[in-house]
Amino acid sequence: MKISIIGAGNVGSLTAMRIAQDGLGDVLLIDVVKHKAHGEALDLEDARPVLKYNYHIKGSDDIVEIKDSDIVVLTAGLARKPGMSREELLTKNAGILKSVCLNIKELAKKAIVIVVTNPLDIMTLYALRITGFKPSKLFGMGISLDTARFANLIAQELGISCTDIEALVIGAHGEGMLPLPRFTKVKGVLLDEFIDDKKIESLTARTIGRGAEIVASLGTGSAFFAPSAAIAAIVKAIIKDEKRTIGVCSYLNGEYGIKDTCIGVPCRLGKHGIEEVIELDLSQEENARLIKSAALVSGAAAGLLTYV
Ligand code: NAI
Ligand code: 2OP
Repeated sequence: MKISIIGAGNVGSLTAMRIAQDGLGDVLLIDVVKHKAHGEALDLEDARPVLKYNYHIKGSDDIVEIKDSDIVVLTAGLARKPGMSREELLTKNAGILKSVCLNIKELAKKAIVIVVTNPLDIMTLYALRITGFKPSKLFGMGISLDTARFANLIAQELGISCTDIEALVIGAHGEGMLPLPRFTKVKGVLLDEFIDDKKIESLTARTIGRGAEIVASLGTGSAFFAPSAAIAAIVKAIIKDEKRTIGVCSYLNGEYGIKDTCIGVPCRLGKHGIEEVIELDLSQEENARLIKSAALVSGAAAGLLTYV
């Protein structure tokens, strides 16, 4: 397996480390900054004797090296600065993604592509249009990170292990995200058996604001530890053909009453990428909120897609 990560910044380099240490395949790191990815790969390799792993990792500033990759993770682009919304990143990151996606289309036709660059849902839709790849083979990571954040905050609130929590978040990876308490359980018991509506509302709001909370504290850049863990879990589900249900940003063509846009929904992931889009039994109100979230993605992407 050849796993290429384009963008050797905070998220890309940590993702490379996690994938390499998990022994999921040979890792290639690419960055536009001369020698950066190469230097990082050397450093990551030096850790092998200490960690007692024999992983393979390479770094380059030449995108041609991604040729025949099985999986490509797209983390190239700018990260948010304090006070900046994901949407403000749109124009700059679209420019970066366009050139990268044209290269993927030419050099790694059979790859499964995982988009991470923000604004995530718009970038996923844009990357799909540029590559012309099948939606099952190109999707985005965002909502599984949000789900992890929701579960973590619930675990902290209840003072219990986060492994006992099955949380669910759908929608856009941004302000239009929908944490779903009605589908969130603690060891099979619905969340509202443990906490009242007011507390649930506050946990939901904190989940939506978590990315911005981290940006504000870091001062520069955005989250990378949890994002890299979420990407590695998706890569693992594909490589090991796990058939796990993980929330990803998927193209929808009628599911949930949504057409021709990308939004976060639970999907079954395996060696073919998205093997099934799971349709939850949403209430009318929940479904309406998902449709609204998807409409915001379509609206924001409209101008961009005109130039594809
Ligand atoms: P970073 O600034 O640390 O790294 C970005 C890297 O991309 C830099 O090293 C830069 O040189 C490189 N780059 C820029 N143009 C490139 C090109 N044409 N080819 C190859 N490399 C190129 O940023 P970080 O923290 O790694 O975040 C990367 C992106 O991922 C941002 O857009 C950020 O908002 C997004 N992100 C998305 C998450 C999600 O859940 N979807 C979570 C965390 C970050
Ligand atoms: C986050 O949610 C920046 O999208 C990234 O932390």
